[in-house]
Amino acid sequence: MHAHSTQPHAPTPDILHRHPSSSPAPDKPPMPTNASTAKTRTSSLSHRALASLLAAVLLLELFLWLGNITVSDSRPTADAAPSAPIPAVHAGSVLDAAHAQLLDYLSGETRAETSSPFGGSLKDDPTFSPSVAWLSVLQHAQYCTINALNRSDFVDLSQRARSFHVLHRVLFDTLPEEAANLYTGTADANSISSIYKYLQEELFPWLSPDYSGISEMLDSFQNNNRTPLGIAITGGSKHIHMITHLIQSLRTEFNISLPVEVFYAGEGDMHPGHVEQLNLLTNVKAINLLQFFPSETQHWETYSAKPFALLAASFRTVLFMDADVLFFKDPRSVLETQLFQKNGQYFFHDRFFREGRWTHGVEWFLRMNPVLTQYAQGIGYVSSAQVGSTRETHEMDSGFVVMDKGRTGVLLALLLTCTMNSNVERKVLYHNTFGDKESFWMSSEILRVPYEFNPYFGGTLGQIDATQAGKGKKVVCGERLLQVDHGGDLFWWNGGGVLEDRSKTVDFEFRSFDAAVVDKDGEGTEWVWYGRGMCQKALEARVLPLSENQVRLLKRYQDIYEHEIRILK
Ligand SMILES: *[C@@H]1O[C@H](CO)[C@@H](O)[C@H](O)[C@H]1NC(C)=O
Ligand SMILES: *[C@@H]1O[C@H](CO)[C@@H](O)[C@H](O)[C@H]1NC(C)=O
Repeated sequence: MHAHSTQPHAPTPDILHRHPSSSPAPDKPPMPTNASTAKTRTSSLSHRALASLLAAVLLLELFLWLGNITVSDSRPTADAAPSAPIPAVHAGSVLDAAHAQLLDYLSGETRAETSSPFGGSLKDDPTFSPSVAWLSVLQHAQYCTINALNRSDFVDLSQRARSFHVLHRVLFDTLPEEAANLYTGTADANSISSIYKYLQEELFPWLSPDYSGISEMLDSFQNNNRTPLGIAITGGSKHIHMITHLIQSLRTEFNISLPVEVFYAGEGDMHPGHVEQLNLLTNVKAINLLQFFPSETQHWETYSAKPFALLAASFRTVLFMDADVLFFKDPRSVLETQLFQKNGQYFFHDRFFREGRWTHGVEWFLRMNPVLTQYAQGIGYVSSAQVGSTRETHEMDSGFVVMDKGRTGVLLALLLTCTMNSNVERKVLYHNTFGDKESFWMSSEILRVPYEFNPYFGGTLGQIDATQAGKGKKVVCGERLLQVDHGGDLFWWNGGGVLEDRSKTVDFEFRSFDAAVVDKDGEGTEWVWYGRGMCQKALEARVLPLSENQVRLLKRYQDIYEHEIRILK
């Protein structure tokens, strides 16, 4: 059955169809009309008026309520300096502390926790009061309804996203018993819903009015009629040979019959002949990403497609792959890891690599996250010291990302990743980090949604350069970034698989590989440029020869290019 076919009896419509009730044919998505644009404006205007009214009423209530308790910071400002000290939180304003503590609390961390919590803001704080923290968040959320978001200001964006996350938990989740009456006496559920809807529209403007909302989206991913697991790939005609090869490789080497959705950005990106060619493959669908989120995707840019494709994929759990990756092991093995089962998402590190070019990004990130999670405090992007003018500024490789969109936190973080990569915001993001890749984990950190990286750093699949070795180290050259699995076995790599020149879509030539660097912790790693491109200088023990099985697999990958796929010229 096709992943995008319409299910007449599905209890929840596939909300990623722009007009679910009109059941559009998958190949002919309805185009946005001026009428729908006009409707958006009117609805957001009246919404705003409603929100201001509500805010005024709520503010009055708050001031009355505040008169009875001893919290002096009653001004509804986003970055108010704390006038009442909040114990055990080392940095940030009252609001930042309230966000961190309340979100950690709502995700089940408790004051008494002795094991290693993810957020950790409640450790050693016996005075934490959910209702006092709630009040700060509510004040801020109200403030948002009367002061528009500055879309270039990621401090503002992060604070609003955290308030939105709290409201979402309060409105839709089962709260801990102690917090069941969290908002009684501060606001009624209707006012909270209105503020929530206002924030949703402001933070994710490209979502409405075509999609009914985030809780409906979450429900639909949790719905049993969804395909639970599938593969999403982004790319265009430039990548058609690699995409076709990747799909064929997954099918034949790992017996993966899962549905595949290939997302391209309009006809300018993928030729209709290539679209047709992909659609002829079993259980593969080429999908024009521009049909989704038209207010955003009309302004497309290279990197920004990835999070939107992850979101648009019709599966609940998505194995997202760049077009230029290939696997040594079954990508589904991620699903078996304890890390994925715990968090519902799985990230890989980039190379352990220091650079001077992006150091301002670290400062920018720390301003967005004045109260870091305990987990983030341990990662190199945040904790590594400056060495000369450089520091660790690349944390994540987004070539293969796995996400379960049926989990609230994961979906909210993905939505925020999309916002960070949208039209206005991405100018700021790409100024501060290299492309989209860091935004995946940053959005989770901003929202305090548990995430973790595979423990290894990116290594190299390449050829040993014996002329450069020395002092207990070996040098492996080739720009192919290699990832290993949890147990340290070679897992996947990017850069064009077995091709010598990935830009050649016909008359393939192949690269030979004879060694892999498995980089456990960056110790002794140096990245250097010699005549043959990028090389990794690593401790001898970390440079491994390829096994016979791996060599055979690489040969079969060449055979697939030569004999099993046919590319339209
Ligand atoms: C929006 O935020 C950016 C970045 O913080 C700042 O440079 C700019 O002045 C702000 N714009 C307005 C209108 O406040
Ligand atoms: C391949 O997968 C199918 C199910 O998708 C299964 O029935 C079959 O036994 C598998 N074949 C091998 C060789 O593992």
